[in-house]
Amino acid sequence: MLFLGKIRKMVKKKFTDANQLERYQHTLGVAKMAKALAKKYHVSVKKAMLASYLHDFCKYDSKEQVDMLLREEDKAVCQNYPVLYHSYASAEYYKKNIGNDEEVYQAIRNHVWGRVGMSRLEEIILISDYTEENRMYPNCIACREILLSGKLNSAIYYSTKYTIEFLQKQNLKPHPMQLEVYHYYERLCEV
Ligand SMILES: [Fe+2]
Ligand SMILES: [Fe+2]
Repeated sequence: MLFLGKIRKMVKKKFTDANQLERYQHTLGVAKMAKALAKKYHVSVKKAMLASYLHDFCKYDSKEQVDMLLREEDKAVCQNYPVLYHSYASAEYYKKNIGNDEEVYQAIRNHVWGRVGMSRLEEIILISDYTEENRMYPNCIACREILLSGKLNSAIYYSTKYTIEFLQKQNLKPHPMQLEVYHYYERLCEV
């Protein structure tokens, strides 16, 4: 896939220039997990890899660069939840410069904590980000095991639960959508 190779090289250059090669390794890990899941759940491998490569693309951009990409209503949201700057900006970058596939766009945009009503591709990028092979936190390893045992919904539930608990330990409030995702996937957990 020539196109994907070009994108991967572009991402590598971006993270190399930013002195963030670890982020490139993480990106490759996300793409590897997403590719396997795309095959398993009959989603386009090309879309899964494209969204993986680009999901953190704007992570190290300056505020000015990010602001040029974002829509006004998104800027307001990001001011309250700065972790969203990079996901929203990366999604806008994709739409402006790479392609116009709505599913890929949403998968990049919503990779931080997902949403209720995700497409399968969005779910795959969300959980691949949390469970890719370079993630060595015990909670990530536990989720990876759940995921690889075939329980996608449970893996999303636990990754959301752990992320919320992590925030609460730091006295930070989860975003309302995180709580919605938590309750939604709790009901879908595979036994
Ligand atoms: Fe991210
Ligand atoms: Fe990521």
